Formats: sequence, C-alpha cells, structure tokens
Amino acid sequence: MNVIVIHYGTGRSGSYLINRIAQRHEKDNLDVVKLEPLERHGFYGWLARSFIPGLKASVKPVDLGGCELLYLIAPKWGYNCPPVNGFIGSHDLKGMSIILIVTYTKGNISGYVPRLARRIRGRGADLLGTIALKREEILSEALTTRLRTFLDEVAPSLKEGSADSHHYHHHEIVFIGMINVNRDDYLQGVVDVRRCRQCRKLFCEDRRYSEGLKPDVGFEEIPDDEQWAILTCTDIKRVFMQSLPVKPGKRLEHTCKSGEKHEFTIGDDWSIDSGEGDTVHRLYMVRDYLNRVIEAGYYKLRLLK
Ligand SMILES: Cc1cc2nc3c(=O)[nH]c(=O)nc-3n(C[C@H](O)[C@H](O)[C@H](O)COP(=O)(O)O)c2cc1C
Repeated sequence: MNVIVIHYGTGRSGSYLINRIAQRHEKDNLDVVKLEPLERHGFYGWLARSFIPGLKASVKPVDLGGCELLYLIAPKWGYNCPPVNGFIGSHDLKGMSIILIVTYTKGNISGYVPRLARRIRGRGADLLGTIALKREEILSEALTTRLRTFLDEVAPSLKEGSADSHHYHHHEIVFIGMINVNRDDYLQGVVDVRRCRQCRKLFCEDRRYSEGLKPDVGFEEIPDDEQWAILTCTDIKRVFMQSLPVKPGKRLEHTCKSGEKHEFTIGDDWSIDSGEGDTVHRLYMVRDYLNRVIEAGYYKLRLLK
C-alpha cells in the first residue's frame, strides 16, 4: 500500500508520531512529507494569521499520485493553521482516505478538530478518523496505547501484527471515483473504482458503451500481490479498454477487436511493450489515474508521439 504522512508545525511530537506510523506500515511504501509554506513569517506573524478564520497560506505542491492512505499530522494554531488550510484547499483529496492527527499544547481543543474535519470532508475526502493528542502526553505510555487503539479502530486491517486480517472480514465497499478512457477527446468507456474501507483493496468495474455490466459488478477480488490496471487497445477506428489485475512478470493474453492475438509480459515498471504495429496497446495503473482521464486515441498516441 502507498501511504503518505504529511506533517507540519510539529517538532518532537511530530517525530514521535511519524515513528509510530512508520512501525505500523513497515511492509508498505511510506513517504513522509513536511509541508513547505511559500511565505515566511516568524512566530508572531503566524500567530496573528492563525486567528483569521479560513486563511490559506500556499504550500509547495505535494505529489499525492497513487496515495492510498494519507495521515495528516497538523498542529493546533489559534483558530486554524493557514499552511494546513492551504494544503487541503490546493490538493485533490476526492476519495482519498485520510487519518487526521492534531497535536496541541494546552487549553480547549474541542471545536478545532471538527472544524478541520469539516474542511477535509468538504474536499470530498474519506476521513477515516480524527484524534487530538496533547504534547505533554505524547511520549507517555498511556498515549501510546490511546494512539494504537484509535488507529486500530479507524483502520482495523492495519493492526500491528495482524497481517491476516486482510483476508478475514466482510468488505465494506465504497465508491471512490472513476477513470474515463477517451479516444481523441471522445469518451469510450469508464472504469468505476471502489475500495474496501477496511482492507483498502480496490475493485474495478468497466462500463463500455452498448455493453451490459458483468453479474459481479465491481466486486471481483484480485490476488493480494496484484494491482488493478487498465489495458487499452487502440487502432485507427476505435479504442477498446478493459480493467484487469496485473503484476510484474505476469503474461497477458489479449485479442484485439480485429481478431489479432497478442501476448504481453508485464515489465518490472508495470508496463507492456506494445511493439510498433497498427494497433497500440498500453497499460495504465488504476492507482495513478483515479479521477483522471486516459487519452488513448490513435491520433494522440501515434501521431502526436
Ligand atoms: C503560531 C502558533 C500558534 C499556536 N497556537 C496554539 C494554540 O492556540 N493552542 C495550543 O495548544 N498550541 C498552540 N501552538 C503550539 C502547537 O500546537 C504545537 O507546537 C504543536 O502541537 C506541536 O507540538 P511540538 O512543537 O511539541 O511538536 C501554537 C504554535 C504556533 C507556532
């Protein structure tokens, strides 16, 4: 799983939390990114700005492509933290699974977290859970337990030491978005993408013009070591698209609409070598194209190469 921890405005508390999260995701692909505001202010400059409701400070863009789970570690600053608002407002969080951790030093935190949660949900994210942690507690054993219990509740399949739990639960499937496949700007088909809220597995369902849906609509389960991809087959007249499970080294047999047969071997970079015939084949990873458009038209692929 691709996990990103985004943090800002935390020192020791943040480092501690990042370590705990990293332990939990030992087997995953984890990136840790500190937000970088584009404007600079000292403590009092930020403090004054933190009391302006809804103020957004621009931040350097973060690449969230392929991210399946995002931890946002944000500090309590006055009324709100402008760089955190800036990040939320300027990134595509639609369908993104987010766990929000707010750190603070003292006083009343009660209205702060729901306000930030509303802001995140308002961007279409799937907010799995929120927790506020006090700085002086952060290194204590009680807090360690509280954090673990919280994370176990919001993402049960990620429980430390329970790799098997991926397999033994009823999927709780939610729609998270779609991918449009175009032929030179004309829509040819759509892949609907759903995800199990517990184990984060993806489920894909193709919708092509003039074809009915498969009886297992969208709930085909693929092996744990494979990932969903979209194979496109383009000739001068049409684009055919199909979602399917892949992994490096796997062989794909494919018959074009013209009857031409092909066999592809998925490369280590999850791509296929299409060759240079009249038909162009491409493989696109679903995780990279969620809520985006794949342009697979002959003109765009061949002539604008
Ligand atoms: C501009 C600014 C405003 C802050 N406002 C508050 C506040 O209103 N309430 C609070 O509990 N902590 C406040 N803090 C402290 C942060 O919440 C704290 O630094 C953060 O939780 C991370 O803790 P750490 O620095 O020990 O890692 C503020 C910090 C800054 C820099």
